[in-house]
Amino acid sequence: MSRIAYVNGRYILHSDASVHIEDRGYQFADGVYEACQIQDGAIIDVRRHLDRLDRSLYELDMDSPMERGPLVAVLREVARRNRVRDGLLYLQVTRGVAPRDHAFPKDAVPSLVVTAKSINPAGAQGRFEKGVSVVTVADNRWDRVDIKTVGLLPNVLAKQKARAAGAYEAFFVDKDGFVTEGSSTNAWIVTKDGKLVTRPAEHGILRGITRTVVLDLAAAEGLAVEERPFTVEEAQTAKEVFITAASTILVPVVRIDDRTVANGEPGLTVARLRSRFQEFAERTPI
Ligand code: PDD
Repeated sequence: MSRIAYVNGRYILHSDASVHIEDRGYQFADGVYEACQIQDGAIIDVRRHLDRLDRSLYELDMDSPMERGPLVAVLREVARRNRVRDGLLYLQVTRGVAPRDHAFPKDAVPSLVVTAKSINPAGAQGRFEKGVSVVTVADNRWDRVDIKTVGLLPNVLAKQKARAAGAYEAFFVDKDGFVTEGSSTNAWIVTKDGKLVTRPAEHGILRGITRTVVLDLAAAEGLAVEERPFTVEEAQTAKEVFITAASTILVPVVRIDDRTVANGEPGLTVARLRSRFQEFAERTPI
């Protein structure tokens, strides 16, 4: 079966899909994106993702490419045409095509691209059962990482450093030694006395949709939560460490740099949260 992409109003073969060389996303990373999980034939938390997209567009003074209703219809259609039951939807909006000039163009029409791909659930299951390793890197990003822009070069370099070290993720560390977040995930620890700790979303991280759902879930489970920064050492000596993202939901971290977390096995809290995640996520059937 051929993959299909949505590009500016048309459903076309993925292999033929393209945007213009003067698209500002290509030239300036002048664009924003969302990635949503598809699970068992439903898009997870699409409302929250599109709320965050609206916020990203607003922060960059960029027009929305279409109203919410038609946009959800496009997302569902792309998932449907690609017959994705479990996978990932990717949506990107850029400021559009215009002759290269740093300042905003006057009449550019935003470009909208949507793709969908299936993900083999076995990979995710393996990561969940065994846990993953993480390396730490200096956080050298700009201070508007709350905006989900396609300008991801520091994240790309961080992830590559992880891969080169045989690790799954890289934790960014700020100049005071506190973990901000992963290169494409939010970071959490469980303290020895069972408190969930994650950095406040107001500064230095992306407010992850999965993070928001896990906070709701933790409250419902009666787990104590502290939104505060934590150091690399606190993470290395924590009872549990895990990461969250739409692409992976919850994944236990069992090693940070050269130190094993707890006994090197995934912990019980992450398993409990993961098993209940579905009850708190919103499902939009394809
Ligand atoms: N990444 N922090 C960063 C830097 C991210 O890129 C992401 C998501 C998250 C988690 O956010 P959410 O729970 O909304 O997925 C945190 C996506 C999956 C990506 O870039 O593919």
